[in-house]
Amino acid sequence: MTGWEAEADLVVVGSGVAGLTAALDAAAAGLRVVVVTKDAVDAGSTRWAQGGVAVVVGDVPGDSVEAHVADTVGAGGGLCDPAAVASIIADGPAAVARLRERGAVFDRADQDAGPDGRLARTREGGHSAFRVVHAGGDATGAEVERALVSAAGGLPLLTGHVAVDALRTPDGRVTGLALLDDDGRPGVLRSPAVLLATGGYGQLYSSTTNPETATGDGVALALRAGASAADLEFVQFHPTVLYTGPAVGRRPLVTEAVRGEGAVLLDRAGRRFMTGVHPLADLAPRDVVAAAITRRLTETGTACVYLDARALDGFAARFPTVYAACRAAGIDPVREPIPVTPAAHYACGGIVTDGHGRTAVPGLWAAGEVARTGLHGANRLASNSLLEGLVMGARAAASVVQESHVPATTLRESGFPATAAAPAVPLADRTTVQRAMTSAAGVGRDGAGLAAASDAVEAATALAVPIDRAGVEDAALTLLAQAVLAAAGTRTESRGCHVRTDFPARDDVWQRASLEVVLDEAGRPVVRAGKKVAA
Ligand code: SIN
Repeated sequence: MTGWEAEADLVVVGSGVAGLTAALDAAAAGLRVVVVTKDAVDAGSTRWAQGGVAVVVGDVPGDSVEAHVADTVGAGGGLCDPAAVASIIADGPAAVARLRERGAVFDRADQDAGPDGRLARTREGGHSAFRVVHAGGDATGAEVERALVSAAGGLPLLTGHVAVDALRTPDGRVTGLALLDDDGRPGVLRSPAVLLATGGYGQLYSSTTNPETATGDGVALALRAGASAADLEFVQFHPTVLYTGPAVGRRPLVTEAVRGEGAVLLDRAGRRFMTGVHPLADLAPRDVVAAAITRRLTETGTACVYLDARALDGFAARFPTVYAACRAAGIDPVREPIPVTPAAHYACGGIVTDGHGRTAVPGLWAAGEVARTGLHGANRLASNSLLEGLVMGARAAASVVQESHVPATTLRESGFPATAAAPAVPLADRTTVQRAMTSAAGVGRDGAGLAAASDAVEAATALAVPIDRAGVEDAALTLLAQAVLAAAGTRTESRGCHVRTDFPARDDVWQRASLEVVLDEAGRPVVRAGKKVAA
C-alpha cells in the first residue's frame, strides 16, 4: 500500500479547546501548523461541555484568584500541585479574554447590555463563589468550539486521520506521526514538534458523558513513545447524567449549574440526602456527590436518584440543552424531578507535563484533558477543564515556538517510511474492556474486583496490528484499562474520585505522591511512585 508524506513545524493532534488554541497561537507566531483529528473537527469532548469556564476576572464582590485556588486545591484531595494550580488559575482571565477576542460570546448578566456588559456567573460543585462564566445558557463548550473552529478556518486541517504512533529518532526524540485515514491508508507527517490534545478516555466505560472519540489515544501514544502518565486512577464520574434506563455510550449531561442555581437531589422516597454529607450539601465537590449518590442507590436498590429543579425560574431558557434532552426522553423538568445517575466524565490524570505542556520526551507536548499538569489532583473542580485547555494550549504553543529550531535533517533520522506497517500491540475487544471497567473500576472499587477485571482484559487481549481507526482506539482502550486497573489496584486508600470500598479511609502514606505509569520493555504498564508535590 502506498502512503503519503508531508512536513510541518508543529502537528497538533486534536481539535478541541486546547488543540485549536495552541494551533492558532503557533500559526500566529509564524509556524507551519497542521491540525489532525480522527473525526470531524468538532467531534471531541469540548463541544459537549455545559457548565462553563471557571475564572476570576475581578468583578464578583468577595471572590478572588486566591479563593479559586483554594477551592481547586480543596476539591483535589491533597494531590494538586499547588504551583501548577496557582499559575494556571492566574492565567485564566487573559486566556478567556483572548478567547473572546477570537469570537466566543459569553452570556451577560443583563442580556440587553452590549458586548462589554458584565458577564453572567453561575456556581457549580466545590466553588465558594458564583464565578463560572457560560454561553448559550448551558452550551458553553459548543460556543467555545464554534469560535475556535471559525478562527482556525485558514489552518491546514486533516479530518478523518487517526494518529497511530510517534516517529522517533534512535535517541528517542519525536519527529512526527504515523497516521491512518478513514480508509486505512497510511501517511507520515514529519514535524519537530507534536502536541497531543486528544482529550480523555471516558469510553473505557459503558456509560459516559464523553463522545465516542474519547478513547485515550493520546495517552497510549505518549506512553508508547516513552512518556509517563500519572493520576490515571482518578476517573471522575459526573454525579448527574440523565437516566433513561440501562444504556451504553454517550449519555446526556445535566450540568452541575442546575444545582448551582438551586436544584436539589432527592432519593426515590423524595428525601434529600446530601444535607449532612458535606458542608456544601448538594454543591459539594463532584467526587463527594457521585459517591453519595452511589451509596444511596445501593441502599435503596434503585437505578437512579432525582434532581428536583421545579423551583427554578425559566429553566428552559437558562438550560436549553438539558431541557431539550429531558423533553426528548419524555421528562418535563419544570414539572417533575429529573432522573439522574453518575457516569464516567473526566480523566483527572494523563500524560505528565511541566507547566509549558512539555512531556519528558523531546519533541512531544500535551495539553488539555490528555495531560496531567497537577491542576486537578484526585478530583477536578467543576469548569476548570475548559480553563486548563485555554491556558495550557497557549503555553504549549509558546513553548513549541521557543524551541522550534530542530534542523530538518533530524526529521529524516527516524527513517519511518509512509508504507511501514505499525507494530503489533495488545488489543482487546472493546465491549469486554468496557464491561470489565464498568463493573470493577467505577465509583467504588475493591482489590478483588480490580484484579478480576485485569484478568478479564488480559484474557481478551491478543497482539494485533491496528489497521484502522477502530483498531487504534481499541489498542488505546486496552492499554488504558490495564494502566487504570494497575494504578487503582496499587492505591490502597480512598481519595478524591478513587473510592476503594476495601480501603475506605484516606491514608496519608499516599498523600502528595502521585502514581506514575510507564511501559516496560514488553510494552506493559508498570506503576511507580511519581514526583512528590510541594506541601
Ligand atoms: C457540568 O456542567 O456539570 C460539567 C462541567 C465540567 O465538567 O466542568
